[in-house]
Amino acid sequence: MSRYNWQFETKLVSPSHLVHSEMGEVNPAIHYSSTFHQKQFDTFGPFDYSRSGNPTRKVLEDVIAELEGGSKGFAFSSGMAAISSAFMLLSAGDHILISEDVYGGTFRMVTQVLSKFKISHTFVNMTDLNEVAGSIQPNTKVIYVETPSNPLLQITDIEGVVKLAQANDCLVFVDNTFMTPLYQKPLELGADIVLHSATKFLSGHSDVVAGLAVVKDEELSNKLGFIQNAFGSILGVQDCWLLLRGLKTLSVRLEQSSLSTQLIANYLNSHPLVEEVFYPGFPAHPGHSIHNRQSTGTGAVLSFRLPNREITKSFIENLTIPVFAVSLGAVESILSYPATMSHAAMPKEEREKRGITDGLLRLSVGLENAKDLIQDLDQALVQAKETTYVPLQNQ
Ligand SMILES: Cc1ncc(COP(=O)(O)O)c(C=O)c1O
Repeated sequence: MSRYNWQFETKLVSPSHLVHSEMGEVNPAIHYSSTFHQKQFDTFGPFDYSRSGNPTRKVLEDVIAELEGGSKGFAFSSGMAAISSAFMLLSAGDHILISEDVYGGTFRMVTQVLSKFKISHTFVNMTDLNEVAGSIQPNTKVIYVETPSNPLLQITDIEGVVKLAQANDCLVFVDNTFMTPLYQKPLELGADIVLHSATKFLSGHSDVVAGLAVVKDEELSNKLGFIQNAFGSILGVQDCWLLLRGLKTLSVRLEQSSLSTQLIANYLNSHPLVEEVFYPGFPAHPGHSIHNRQSTGTGAVLSFRLPNREITKSFIENLTIPVFAVSLGAVESILSYPATMSHAAMPKEEREKRGITDGLLRLSVGLENAKDLIQDLDQALVQAKETTYVPLQNQ
């Protein structure tokens, strides 16, 4: 049976590097070598210098390319390094159309770094294709999508955006961090580059900071390969290995966490103190049917809104199980406060305009027992409810 026909789970655990390995090692060797002996005067071997390519990194890059269904994968030192390197395909005078609800670091890159190089941008409500179509300019070169978005879990119709992009000669980049290729394959829907904070579900154990990019066509792959080598923000070999190990359990981790997320979403949705729950698994979510069409799972992240900062603070201080931290996508549940964590780079008025208020929390559900998690949320909500509401202006 050809590898091409294997299911996703089989590809995750059956190492493709074995085909090329003389030793038959199940886990790839870590090639701690910055440089490689050139056996002949005028011919390079497959590797020459580890910024340009390294055998351990190549295993990871081949694995993610296979999982996303692309022509080539690239491993970077962080998700932001992957995203920033992809933006370097642009030139001065180009314009980016980007999801309004986007990870704060991407917002910072676009607004405070790319703008210095005369690459302009427009934030749009990417869930509204009419608004997207009306915002494309003659110099728009990239439409940048995050779906589900961080932190409000908004859903963008990837194929709809691709159609608009193709009609206007621009590329589509999709940040696939929340879904991973287990649930969503943007390249198969027509996107040009898929990007990941591999720090999250792909590695899964809060032990690596890493970024991955996968490119659909070979010409664009060559261009991104050039940027990766020129800019040099590559992933180190030890982290490549850790990420490869984490990847093997992606499907069991994410499937289990997704089941628990569904239970927790229902629990929170029925709690009187919770004002709103953002979760694409709810039939009432405005992007539910689009998400179901383009993804095979609802994922392990949800956000919810409490009435105000004081109640939120008390709730967090009374929780015992989730880690209260930046990040998501790990074996341990992680509760984040976007206002001061993932979206700290966004000015307060921009945040609030986007619905990232002082009562918004994002929960990434890990592998703890869902009953324990719900019990913990429940007791913390009971205690938070007793908190006296102090209007912010009186503090
Ligand atoms: C959706 C999304 N994209 C990109 C990033 C950036 O990734 P990294 O922190 O690995 O640089 C993050 C980080 O939280 C994220 O949530």
